[in-house]
Amino acid sequence: MTAVLILGIETSCDETSAAVVEETGDRRRPWAIRSNVVASQALIHREWGGVVPELASRQHIRDICGVVERALEEAWTTWTDLGAIAVTQGPGLVGSLLVGVSFAKAASAASGLPLVAVHHLAGHIESLVLQNGELPLPAVVLVVSGGHTSLYLVERPGSYTLLSRTRDDAAGEAYDKVAKLLGLGYPGGPAIDRLARLGDDRAIALPTTRLTHADRNAPELKGDLDFSFSGLKTAVMRHVKGKKGPDPLFSEAEIADICASFQRIVVTALVDRAFDAARRHRAVCIGVAGGVSANSRLREEITRRGDAREIPTFVPSLRLSTDNAAMIAAAGLRKFRAGVTATLELNADASLAL
Ligand code: KG4
Ligand code: ZN
Repeated sequence: MTAVLILGIETSCDETSAAVVEETGDRRRPWAIRSNVVASQALIHREWGGVVPELASRQHIRDICGVVERALEEAWTTWTDLGAIAVTQGPGLVGSLLVGVSFAKAASAASGLPLVAVHHLAGHIESLVLQNGELPLPAVVLVVSGGHTSLYLVERPGSYTLLSRTRDDAAGEAYDKVAKLLGLGYPGGPAIDRLARLGDDRAIALPTTRLTHADRNAPELKGDLDFSFSGLKTAVMRHVKGKKGPDPLFSEAEIADICASFQRIVVTALVDRAFDAARRHRAVCIGVAGGVSANSRLREEITRRGDAREIPTFVPSLRLSTDNAAMIAAAGLRKFRAGVTATLELNADASLAL
C-alpha cells in the first residue's frame, strides 16, 4: 500500500487553514504533519468583541488560495503528489464553511483527486492521534471548543459515540462571554487563562451545575454527564454588575480573582465528567481536545488526576488544540482509508451531527 499525502482544508469559524499530512506506514503512529498553515482572523473580530460571520466568510475568500499554496509549498509538494482532499463540512458558520467546501470541490474537480468530507469534531478527536499515535481503546474523549462541549466514547478507530453534551453554552463560549464582560477582549480563553494564574481561585463563590435529568432535546442521553455553563456565566455577570464603587470597578487583582474562580469551576466540571464517563464506560484512557484543551489548568488537572488514578491522559500540542487543518487532514485520511469519499454534490452543513 503506497502512503497517501492528503490536503486538509478548514474554514468553519475564524481560522483559514490548510495542511498536508502523510501516512507513515507505522500503525502506532499513523500520520505525520508535513505542513499546517493557519491564518487567524482574531485581529479582525477583536474589534467587534466576537466573530462576525459576514466578515469571517469574506476574509476566508481572501485568504484561502494563498493559505493552500503556502501549505503545499511548506510540505514540498504539488497537486500531482496528493492522493486526496479533505475538507470540513460542518458544523460551523455556514458562510465560512462554504468557502472551504467550494474550494475543495473545485480543486477536486480540477485535479481529479477524491474528496473527503470531515466533521469538525472528528478532526478535534483525531488531533489526539496525530499528536500521540493511536490511543488505547476504548477511550473517552472530551471535546471542548468555542461551539461544543461534548464527551465521546471511541471504541474503534474512527467510531465516535456521543455520551453527553452541553445543554446551553459551550465552555469556550462561556470563557469568551466572561472575558467580554471583564473587558478582556476576544478570544477570551487565553486572556482568562493568563490572568487566572495570578488570582485566588476561591475568592468568589460561584455555582457549580450538576444535571441529573435527561436532555429533552436528546432523550437518548441520560443527562448526568451533561454540561451547563450559562448559570455560571450569569453568576459572574451578577457579581460584576452588582458591584458599586469607583470607575474602574475592579482592580487588576480583583479581575484575576474572578478569572481564577470562574476557571476553577469550569475545569472541575470538565475533568469530573470526563473521569465519571471513563469509569462508567471502562475506558482505558482519556483524551481532551478542542480550543479549550489549550487551557493550562485543564491540561494540568487532567494529567494530575490521570496520574493519581493510573489512567493515561492525552492532549494535543497547543498548536493542534485550536482550529487547524492538520486535524481535518488526519480525520480525512481515516475516512479515506475506510473507503468513504464524497461526491461533488457535497454541501456545507452548519449543524452537522457526529
Ligand atoms: O476549537 P476552537 O479553536 O474553535 C472552535 O471550534 O470553536 O476553540 C476556540 C475556543 C474559544 O472559545 C477560545 O476562547 C477557547 O477555545 N480557548 C481557550 C484557550 N485557548 C483557546 N479557552 C481557555 N483557555 C485557553 N488557553
Ligand atoms: Zn474547533
